[in-house]
Amino acid sequence: MAAVSLDDPTTFAALDSRDMLGMAEGFPDQCRQGLKLADEAQIGDSYRIEYDGIVGLGMGGSAIGGDLLAAIYSGELSVPATTVRDYALPSWVGERTLVFAVSYSGNTEETLAAFDEARRRGARVIGVTSGGELARICGENGLPCVVVPGGRPPRASTGYLLMSLVAVVERLGLIGGQAAARRECLEVLDAQAAEYGRHSPADANRAKQVAGLLHDKVPVIYASTPILGAVAYRWRTQFNENAKVLAMSHELPELDHNEIVGWELGRNLLGPRCVIVLTDPGMSDRARRRLEITQDLLGSGVEVHREAARGDSALARILSAMYLGDCASLYLALLNGVDPLAIRPIEELKKRLAQG
Ligand code: PA5
Repeated sequence: MAAVSLDDPTTFAALDSRDMLGMAEGFPDQCRQGLKLADEAQIGDSYRIEYDGIVGLGMGGSAIGGDLLAAIYSGELSVPATTVRDYALPSWVGERTLVFAVSYSGNTEETLAAFDEARRRGARVIGVTSGGELARICGENGLPCVVVPGGRPPRASTGYLLMSLVAVVERLGLIGGQAAARRECLEVLDAQAAEYGRHSPADANRAKQVAGLLHDKVPVIYASTPILGAVAYRWRTQFNENAKVLAMSHELPELDHNEIVGWELGRNLLGPRCVIVLTDPGMSDRARRRLEITQDLLGSGVEVHREAARGDSALARILSAMYLGDCASLYLALLNGVDPLAIRPIEELKKRLAQG
């Protein structure tokens, strides 16, 4: 295949059939709109109770918002927040649990089954969707639902889905006022959008550079702290779905207790690979020291690059780290000569399951 130039606009026109790059370029505005939609959603007084936990139900591109919410507010929430990617709910979910059912299509069977179970248990449920069964059930039963614009792949709708969760937990008083964090995050994302967009040349565009570093290699994404663990996982899934490659992800300090040993033989089995370490400006000195030692133990033959999250608030740091990976995965799709939109195995699986 002829070498692809990421600075040549015809590259995008030929491969990116639904302009997913354009959707990524509009990510900051999508976040603004997600916040607005959720700020305006009807949520009754019966939702102003003392909660025992927050659960995000969802699969794939609709589930990641729950992980990111839990990570962003891990230092602030006084109740646990978790994501359920399954038909079944944990036994502790009950009347005092806030349950977000997140399905972009509104038709994902695992999410609908868990949503049904949450309603049976009397949990306070809120739908987040562009339509489908989920919107219908919420509408017919007078349940709150944040309805986001449709017509995109779920993974290109994270601004709508995540920011809906952020705005609702803020409205319900589960976290403090987010005005400053929202402002800072959007400023950081605006600056990144200008840098990562298609018209920003590769020599000034880190997203294009990262795609170039990872081309024809196995991406290994490590989070330097657990708060970035969900972001590392997001990078991996974006490389899977957009660029159609396998990828690995893990987080420190846990990877020091298992995966680091796998490099002993794995370095020969994996083929060419490239490690991206996502670093957090809020890392403790201990975490920095740990990262130095870990990198040293990986050995000099392993290609490692560090990518720093931007901003002060956890909202800005986590979204900025995610945004770089989202854009890099789209550029990697173009370098790989594939349409980032296509997810044939997922569609085929859903079709066959729907047939019984
Ligand atoms: O990226 C995708 O399309 C998938 O990961 C979907 O998000 C997943 O299959 C769940 O579908 P939905 O987001 O419509 O609930």
